[in-house]
Amino acid sequence: MSTPIPKSHKRVVAIAKRAPLELHTVPTKAPEANEVLVRVSYAASSPLNLHVADGNLLGGLPNVGWNGAFAGSVAALGPETQTGLKIGDPVFGFTWRDNKEKSGQEYLTAPETMMGRIPDGADERAYATVPDSFVTAWHTLRTELGMKLPWPKPDGWKPRNVDTPVLVWGASSSVGWFALPLLKWAGYTNVVATAGMKHHERLKQLGATKAFDYRDGDVVEKLRDAAGPPGFRYFVDCIGSLEGSVRPIAQIAGPGSTIAIMLPVIVRTATETVEPIYSMDVKDPEIHVDWKDGSNPVGVRTHFYTKDEFAANNLQPVVMPALLQSGDIEPASYRIMEGKDMLERAEKALSLFRSGAVSGERLIWSTS
Ligand SMILES: NC(=O)c1ccc[n+]([C@@H]2O[C@H](COP(=O)([O-])OP(=O)(O)OC[C@H]3O[C@@H](n4cnc5c(N)ncnc54)[C@H](OP(=O)(O)O)[C@@H]3O)[C@@H](O)[C@H]2O)c1
Repeated sequence: MSTPIPKSHKRVVAIAKRAPLELHTVPTKAPEANEVLVRVSYAASSPLNLHVADGNLLGGLPNVGWNGAFAGSVAALGPETQTGLKIGDPVFGFTWRDNKEKSGQEYLTAPETMMGRIPDGADERAYATVPDSFVTAWHTLRTELGMKLPWPKPDGWKPRNVDTPVLVWGASSSVGWFALPLLKWAGYTNVVATAGMKHHERLKQLGATKAFDYRDGDVVEKLRDAAGPPGFRYFVDCIGSLEGSVRPIAQIAGPGSTIAIMLPVIVRTATETVEPIYSMDVKDPEIHVDWKDGSNPVGVRTHFYTKDEFAANNLQPVVMPALLQSGDIEPASYRIMEGKDMLERAEKALSLFRSGAVSGERLIWSTS
């Protein structure tokens, strides 16, 4: 039975650059055709929230309601929904396009194709770690790098170039956590990772064949040796730090390689006292990256994943729950942000990102 749709609810709002967040009361939007009203339980903060709050990335301020991943339950269904969701079903998803869709609020209203069902009894907080990062990893591999990720995958299917060398730089990041097992699921067998040492064993379980510490002064030489004469064909830069990942990768990436870089390129990292500087162009002459002739750097914008009709209709409602169910991917580790209200919890997450204290985990907070 449907619960009455509330007249209004609270959401987190970033008003101006590096200004304190605010909590606004806004009208709750009833779901229209193919839409679902979700009572959000948990929202996941991501570095994108920091890029917008501190750097006004892409003119994203004021940012009403945050954007990113959520877990919650179906409060109401609009007409003509087709995915089989029912009132009360637990759901998780990644939404961002409109204020009513965003996850940092008590209720969100979004298309049913932008969420999947959580199995009964599963930890919804763990499921909130998945959607934005999983969608990014899939979109990066399949669309930006043009790798084969068939769905459904026929039994025994393997890519033609199974042992082509792939480098996942920053594999302990949220995106790396899903890129590695997706590559393993797709059959790629020569996947090298960089991450802090403490994550290496875990990353090998997830699918890395070798792991190197990105802080090691010899990391570029070690990675060249690990790739051998063909060199890496595919690169996933999960970090996009100008000095910390982009420049070292440019030294390794040879002709014929494609390098997918998570945007923005971080020219200067935000801290409590310093404003960030970003670039949205991986070939920006102002940042002077010395890409070798014949290498192909591309900037990743996950928000474009819906341009692929298959992904738009199936990635979140079908593929993501199925890969979790089969155990081919698993939720990331998470840390719960405590605080008296959403505002305090969302601020805590921003502060942890500013202090660089997030390692191999998602920051999750309750919207109650
Ligand atoms: N454009 C897009 O569509 C898109 C989508 C998703 C993410 N992104 C961007 O990608 C970046 C990462 O996001 P995220 O959510 O994955 O972040 P995250 O999980 O919070 O990143 C933290 C991890 O980054 C690792 N790290 C930090 N500096 C590194 C470096 N120089 N080399 C290798 N690893 C490094 C740390 O590794 P250790 O703890 O092992 O040291 C830590 O585990 C953000 O800027 C985000 O906005 C962009």
